[in-house]
Amino acid sequence: MTITAEHPTTTTHPGPPKLDRDALRRAQQETLDTPRMEYSLLARMMFKPVDLMYGKEGSFTKFAMLEVIARVPYQAWERMGYWAVHRFRTRSDLARRVHERIVEARADQDNEQYHLLIMEDLIDRQGLKRNFLLHRVAPWFISFFYYHVSWVLFMVHPKSSYRLNAEFEDHAEHEYMSFVAENPDLEFIPDPGTYADEYGRYRSVADLLRQIGHDERTHKLDSLQSMQEPRVR
Ligand SMILES: [Fe+2]
Ligand SMILES: [Fe+2]
Repeated sequence: MTITAEHPTTTTHPGPPKLDRDALRRAQQETLDTPRMEYSLLARMMFKPVDLMYGKEGSFTKFAMLEVIARVPYQAWERMGYWAVHRFRTRSDLARRVHERIVEARADQDNEQYHLLIMEDLIDRQGLKRNFLLHRVAPWFISFFYYHVSWVLFMVHPKSSYRLNAEFEDHAEHEYMSFVAENPDLEFIPDPGTYADEYGRYRSVADLLRQIGHDERTHKLDSLQSMQEPRVR
């Protein structure tokens, strides 16, 4: 897979690879050709209200909502990680492994944060209206629920916490890639590049969204990989 950014950035943030234009198109096609994962009841308990409140179709406002909650499990894992490092501080091998997970969780939170900032910027530029209940209160409640589900699951059965996040990321990946396919006009809207220094600059909003969709796939694969790794006790 090509991982050279079309417009290399000066970013020092670790995170998913930035793809060039052809690789972004291929990534989109791969997502569209891949069936969605089978979502658990817990995942559907979050997707359903989001669809009811923001519509089944993708939109920048719906994506902003999804990005507010996307960061939550990484925050929960980071907090649990600090607790585990403290617990295993006398066992350097374990402490190091846990610390590496913390670093990853922080990088993923930063990546999700840029997705949110980019969505908010696109919403502002399009002059889309936001509603206090739907775009402030509801994301807070869903994030609160997701945060507690994430850390409790992580305590009891870490694989389930990673699996739930993989489902969430798979959902996000498909939402972005399908939205780009359904809105060909996005190819003709230039990427405003508001966060170009931190996130890269793309030829169009379509490519910017493809890159975000690919990030979600990377997050999904990382979570699926984490499910295979031995539990730290
Ligand atoms: Fe995201
Ligand atoms: Fe993600």
